[in-house]
Order: sequence, then C-alpha cells, then structure tokens
Amino acid sequence: MKKITLALNWKLYLNELESIEFVEKINHSKNQFDLIDLEIYPSATAIRSVRNVLNHSSIKIGLQDFSIFEKGAFTGSLSLSSIEIDCCIVGHSERRDFYNENDNLILKKLQISNAKKISTILCVGESLNEKEEGLSKERIKSQLSILKNLDIQIPLTIAYEPIWAIGTGEVPSKEYISDMLSTIKSELNTLYSHQKNSALRLFYGGSVDETNIRNLSDIVLLDGFLIGGASLNAKKFVDIIKKSSI
Ligand code: 13P
Repeated sequence: MKKITLALNWKLYLNELESIEFVEKINHSKNQFDLIDLEIYPSATAIRSVRNVLNHSSIKIGLQDFSIFEKGAFTGSLSLSSIEIDCCIVGHSERRDFYNENDNLILKKLQISNAKKISTILCVGESLNEKEEGLSKERIKSQLSILKNLDIQIPLTIAYEPIWAIGTGEVPSKEYISDMLSTIKSELNTLYSHQKNSALRLFYGGSVDETNIRNLSDIVLLDGFLIGGASLNAKKFVDIIKKSSI
C-alpha cells in the first residue's frame, strides 16, 4: 500500500494555544505517524510553537499563504522568509474568493516558492456553477495553465479541491475525482518531462473525514489529502490516520 500524505489546513480556526493543545494530544499517538506523511499548516502565529512541541519530528510545517513581497513597508504581510517553514500552500479557493487572488498573482507566488525551493501545494478546483455548466475541466486546465511559466525545481503538489465540496459535507464520487485527477495528470504531461512529472503529487481536498477517507484512499492517482474541518479535532484526526492506513 502506498504511503499517503495528510496535509492539515487549519485555516483561521485554531489560535496559538489551541494549536499547541492539538499537537500535544497527537504526540501521544506518534506510533501511528509512521504509516503516513504529515504536513501541518497552522496559523502563522502558531508555527513556532507547533514546531517546538513536535520537537524535530518528521512532520512538516508550512504557511497557508504568503505575500509576494519579501521585506519592507507592507503592513500586515508575511513572506516566506518571515518564519522557518518546510512547505507552503498557494491558490487556495478561499484566497482566490475572499482576497481576489488571480492566476497572475498565484503564479508570482509559485515562482517565489520555486526559487526558494520550498515544497508547495497549488490548489485548483471548480465552483458549483462551473460544475453545473459542465465547465469543471476547462476551469482546472485554465488554472493549471500558469505552470507553463514555471520551470519547477521543487516538490510541487496539485490539490484538487472542488469549491462546492469544501466545508459542505458533499464529497464527489471516486469516479468524478479520478476523472478530474486524470485531467490534471494529462495537463501536467503536456507541460513537463516524464521525470519532472513523476515527482509531482496529486491531492484531493473537500469534506474529507474519518468516515470517507478509507474509501477515497483507493483512488489510484491520489498521493494524499488536504483536510480542513476534520483536522481541527485531535481525536478525530487520529481516527483519520487510522482509517487512512488500514
Ligand atoms: P474541508 O476539509 O473543511 O472541506 O476543507 C478543505 C480545504 O479547504 C482544505 O484546504
């Protein structure tokens, strides 16, 4: 069985103390972690504390987003150099929707993480309207088209996160996810050499929890999951780990 990656996107849910409490609890189940690779994306303010509690474990810690500005008069911004991290996320639909991030800006962020050689998750996914109008694949292809301007040097992950599945409890069928991942894979094949492509990972995100992860883990093209809501509760999360690695 392949070793999958669970990436926990805590969004703006857990504050610093709650984040510490979470990792202290999961530290008790450390023996389960050998079966999976784990990445945690806390609030930026909690990164240092989470790292300290995890204390040199193999769990990777990353930024949910960052500014394209490295340093300077950019009040309220965070750059990839602001704090020590292993990985980052760009292009999450919540950044696209609430902060009007467009493909141009997302490309700039990718170019920055690529130049700094920081492992990156690029999120793509269609809205409910796009799905209902039969435009899901077009949407994904257009979001991926920015990659033709990126000579990837880093471990890059594409996370397929249909917007209509995020936080709704509605999970697409395995066939639907497989079909979308195949589309992503063939787009990547047109952009990159076989060697580069084989290093890329594909994740799914959107209402993944302890009740559906076992079933979704069968999807052949899948290397991991990007999990929001169900990753906020330590006990639930340990259940997810157990179910994902049966
Ligand atoms: P949920 O797991 O809460 O649906 O969120 C998915 C997500 O947006 C992860 O980035």
